[in-house]
Amino acid sequence: MTNNSQGDVKDLSLAQEGVEHIQWAGKDMPVLNLISERFSKERPLEGLRVSGCLHVTSETANLAIALKAGGAAVALCSSNPLSAQDDVAAALVSRYGIPVYAIKGEDDDTYYSHIRAALDHRPQVTMDDGADLVATIHREGKDLLRDVIGGTEETTTGVIRLRAMARDGMLKYPIIAVNEADTKHLFDNRYGTGQSTLDGITRATNILWAGRKVVVIGYGWCGRGVALRARGMGANVIVTEVNPVKALEAVMEGFTVLPGLEAAKLGSVFISVTGGLKAIDRERMEVMPDGAILANSGHFNVEIDIPALEEMAETSRQVRPFVREYCLEDGRKLYLLGEGRLINLAAAEGHPSSVMDMSFANQALSVERLWGGNGSLAPEVHPVPAEIDMEVGRLKLRSMGIAIDTLTQDQLRYVNSWEEGT
Ligand code: ADE
Repeated sequence: MTNNSQGDVKDLSLAQEGVEHIQWAGKDMPVLNLISERFSKERPLEGLRVSGCLHVTSETANLAIALKAGGAAVALCSSNPLSAQDDVAAALVSRYGIPVYAIKGEDDDTYYSHIRAALDHRPQVTMDDGADLVATIHREGKDLLRDVIGGTEETTTGVIRLRAMARDGMLKYPIIAVNEADTKHLFDNRYGTGQSTLDGITRATNILWAGRKVVVIGYGWCGRGVALRARGMGANVIVTEVNPVKALEAVMEGFTVLPGLEAAKLGSVFISVTGGLKAIDRERMEVMPDGAILANSGHFNVEIDIPALEEMAETSRQVRPFVREYCLEDGRKLYLLGEGRLINLAAAEGHPSSVMDMSFANQALSVERLWGGNGSLAPEVHPVPAEIDMEVGRLKLRSMGIAIDTLTQDQLRYVNSWEEGT
């Protein structure tokens, strides 16, 4: 399909498969479904143009469909060259009338041409996952900035990047940091990344986790999810971390904590979830045991120093889909998964729908807030309003059939006063 206002996807004949995939995900997204039903009645997004740079998955499709139900015109591009689901992209274009610019395995030039194509829809609100769309519009689309009233950001890496833009006085419109909602990072980053990362590595390699020495690099919300789930599968988990408080948490959670170089000598699977640069560097790769598996589940593919690995290797070859074997001069072999791109989306399907339900409910309600807010926010990074966060939590609990208590008047008065003590 050619790159035009309708989209650029791999193969439109995959559309029916994509419809089934989207509907299957939708069954496990009750909070987003409730929002979508309200949106279709109230049409709060009438007249709004949204461009989203997100992983084009069946869950993202449900978000785009909900926004469209609310009256928005939505265009999507991928937030990673290896994460798009081609069947979903085909279905969105041909069955749901949502332009999508995303092909799994696209090269970097195509990736950026797809971001530009999504920007050609002249968004008033942007949705980003990693801030590539925001960076592109600020670098190349200054004339488009006039129309933009705000944006949302899905991920930790993107929020850090946007805060840096705001600090440097470069950010020209407000961003709601969806990642910072409790109903996002406590669940998506922890349980979503925990499960989907192990899923991606398992699908790529078919390894047995029980008894395996797994090194988790980074103990943020994603890292702790990965460490917990690896331990749950019977792995022997070592954590490496640069932040002393987080390292202490890992210790008290019962994990072995070591400096990266020490851990590198011991591990057989290395999973980087730092959001930073070269967490797996040459020095560490020099001492890893033969057969070590290297995976990244952080947003960008810079966490593993792939250029160094390529220099260290005499030869390399693809041994399975998403597994590249590097034969080093000293005879050791290291296995890089998914080209160092986030393995949960490259080799598996990303986080399960049930957890994306909360993340994308926050997205939908934040877009509604931006559009209803008459441009009242300053061009900075803002938290998701607490009432949205609480509402998402309440609706999720309700969808699970779980009731909770509320404080009595007496208790409320007590927690709001300073007068009562011993
Ligand atoms: N990020 C992680 N998992 C995802 C998914 N299933 N859909 C969209 N974005 C994601």
